[in-house]
Amino acid sequence: MKTSRRTLIIGTGASLLPFPAAFAAGLAATPQQTEGPFYPTSFPADMDNDLVQVRGQAAQAMGTVLHLQGRVLDLDGRPVEGALIEIWQCDAHGLYDHPRQPGRARRDSAFQGYGRMLAAADGRYGFRTLKPVAYPGRTPHIHLKVATAAGSRLTSQFYVAGEPGNERDGIFRAAALDPRRRERIEMRLASAPGLEAGGLATTMDIVVA
Ligand SMILES: [Fe+2]
Repeated sequence: MKTSRRTLIIGTGASLLPFPAAFAAGLAATPQQTEGPFYPTSFPADMDNDLVQVRGQAAQAMGTVLHLQGRVLDLDGRPVEGALIEIWQCDAHGLYDHPRQPGRARRDSAFQGYGRMLAAADGRYGFRTLKPVAYPGRTPHIHLKVATAAGSRLTSQFYVAGEPGNERDGIFRAAALDPRRRERIEMRLASAPGLEAGGLATTMDIVVA
């Protein structure tokens, strides 16, 4: 009797598994992370979405150009039109344009360091910036903030997938514990010959709660 009941349970179990709940849920939100100490105290004269070229300067910023693009979405995957996206990061020497930055005077003045734009009707955004580099104490990252008309506020950071320093970076590790959230902050870089010779590109959807 016992044996036959167990056989029955094992035999039917596999076919009666419910549809995994994770597939029915909405998108995972981009995780909130610290703003850090280097959000601008004053904005540059040029704060468009091309950080590699400062208006009025002939020289282009040093470093590897990265086209960072994607959509701003809500948890149901709907585009968030008009969301304000801001990014900021250090230059190719690891220096921020900020009063608390030691050696600020040595920074690359051809790098804009900060940029902002509004998401289009389909949620799309795009920045021309640099592949981030490491500086003492941090693995390479790009800071971002998003503000929506509905009042959502996100402060986060993007990282380069596979960068060896990521696993030693406490801020990255805390945000990447959940694999669905990790996917939201790891940039997979690909060459982008169609966009720019020698440039890289990545697609990062930003999901706001
Ligand atoms: Fe930083």
